[in-house]
Amino acid sequence: CGIVGYIGRRNAAPVVVEGLKRLEYRGYDSFGVAIADNGIEVVKKQGRISDLGKSAISLSGPVGIGHTRWATHGVPNDINAHPHTDCEENIAVVHNGIIENYTELKRMLESEGHTFKSDTDTEVIPHLIEKYYAGNLLDAVFKTADVLKGSYAFLAVCGDERRIVAAKKSSPLVIGMGDGEMFASSDMTPVIEYTQKMIFLEDGDFADISDSDICIYNSGEKVVRMPEIVEWDFDSAKKGGFEHFMQKEIFEQPDVFYNSFAKKIDEDVISALKKAVLITVVACGTSYHAGIIFRYLMEKYCKIPVRVEIASEFSNFTPCRDSVMIAVTQSGETADTLSALKSSKSENCTTFAITNVLGSSVTRAADHVLYTLAGPEISVAATKSFTAQVAVLLKIVSCLSEYDIEEELSGIHAVLEEALMFDAEPAAELCKNSESMFFVGRGVFYPVSLEGALKMKEITYIHAEGYAAGELKHGPFSLLCENTPVIALCTKDESYPVMMSNIKEIKARGAPVIAIGTGDDIDLMEICDLYIPLPDSSKISEIITASVILQVLAYKTAVLLGRDVDKPRNLAKSVTVI
Ligand code: G6P
Repeated sequence: CGIVGYIGRRNAAPVVVEGLKRLEYRGYDSFGVAIADNGIEVVKKQGRISDLGKSAISLSGPVGIGHTRWATHGVPNDINAHPHTDCEENIAVVHNGIIENYTELKRMLESEGHTFKSDTDTEVIPHLIEKYYAGNLLDAVFKTADVLKGSYAFLAVCGDERRIVAAKKSSPLVIGMGDGEMFASSDMTPVIEYTQKMIFLEDGDFADISDSDICIYNSGEKVVRMPEIVEWDFDSAKKGGFEHFMQKEIFEQPDVFYNSFAKKIDEDVISALKKAVLITVVACGTSYHAGIIFRYLMEKYCKIPVRVEIASEFSNFTPCRDSVMIAVTQSGETADTLSALKSSKSENCTTFAITNVLGSSVTRAADHVLYTLAGPEISVAATKSFTAQVAVLLKIVSCLSEYDIEEELSGIHAVLEEALMFDAEPAAELCKNSESMFFVGRGVFYPVSLEGALKMKEITYIHAEGYAAGELKHGPFSLLCENTPVIALCTKDESYPVMMSNIKEIKARGAPVIAIGTGDDIDLMEICDLYIPLPDSSKISEIITASVILQVLAYKTAVLLGRDVDKPRNLAKSVTVI
């Protein structure tokens, strides 16, 4: 979910509405706005705020809060949409996170006469504030937070006061400091248009925000948090002539890879990694796939063992004491990844974060931070952030290895530009009506196939599975038929002969094969149904070009199917709940 607040000289509603549109990547099943101006007025609805006309929220007043939702407790509908209010409807709250003890709090409040309207966990917050309210919103929020368990970033307003009170624990919250106006938001994208001066709140912080001042408290004490000047380019968060953000972001990858790889890594980071006997990578989704690519390369070129774990499973395993942990996370906010990183800190591990977002929660939790230089990624499906993660991870390998990886990647910019010219239409036509698809590869192309399948299923809704090519015969063969295309990654590396055999086995079971190979590979062309050549390049470059080609294929297939490419159903870009 995403939250926004505004207080100042402008009319708050349009600022909040535009801010919510930028936060829709965090969830978009319903939205709402509350304006506080001698009472509270709320408009909230199921659906997407970006589908609304400009005048649809015609509230006016100088203090406003808003929310765009990714449902956790309670189905997406008008009533469960935020903001939520108290019985008197004079206090309104927007919340990102999960209140774990809401059932017991709700029971207690109901026994005291409070009536609830929604099925959400959030609604306990305005009712608690109402219970504790004695003329001062900040005091009531302090008391409320004392009884809440779970994670939250919330904003509260009261119809009788000109202020916004914010509280943060585990979920992100940024304050933008303007001239006679203040902003609060889940991330900086809604704020950057107005001011570059931002305060990233810390866990346990409360902020009392007025038009021209902000007071921050933590553990009952007033604290000072120095503002940072953020230099993100606002224009890069716009579509710039492309049909979709995903398309634009795919096309940015030559620069993104180049810049992320070119960035120097500090000596202290390298020496901490050099000492590692074991590196554990934790991540989710696309970032997890970048982690597996790292494993293949690190073990091959540096002989340092790497363990890669899905962050949500990490708590079931024993962290290796005194080892090195790398959390890979585009947003820097994924709850499972953060929690895995924190738990390994308590096992005395040295922790690293690879993230795309300055000031995100993971940057505060980790001992060392390496930034990917992808710029804002708006499309829910990760593309350029993945390439940037692979670039930074490759840079680590390059710094620790004797092998000249930089040399191998010297032509990468031009090679990626060439790869992006490929015409995905014939392959997309072949995929678009299939009931299921497999993506297969060996070695480092196994995680590339996992990522290709994830991209395909995320945005086309076609069931797609990434598989180690050698494993397909152990079960999935029974699913192969003429309606289950297999995308086979078969470059000319050490796995080539055995990949060729695997493709023949697949063909013998009636499944069409789209093969991705190196240059004009006549032998491969002969055995597959459709051939996609990778541009002439080095072996390591092929990892990136193949990944990019699979993104373009998923994109094209989704477009042919008329899918909502940038905002696929049921997903969110940043998942801040466990
Ligand atoms: C969500 C997104 C994925 C992303 C994953 C991890 O599921 O939809 O695209 O890969 O979270 O996100 P992170 O920000 O931690 O990389």
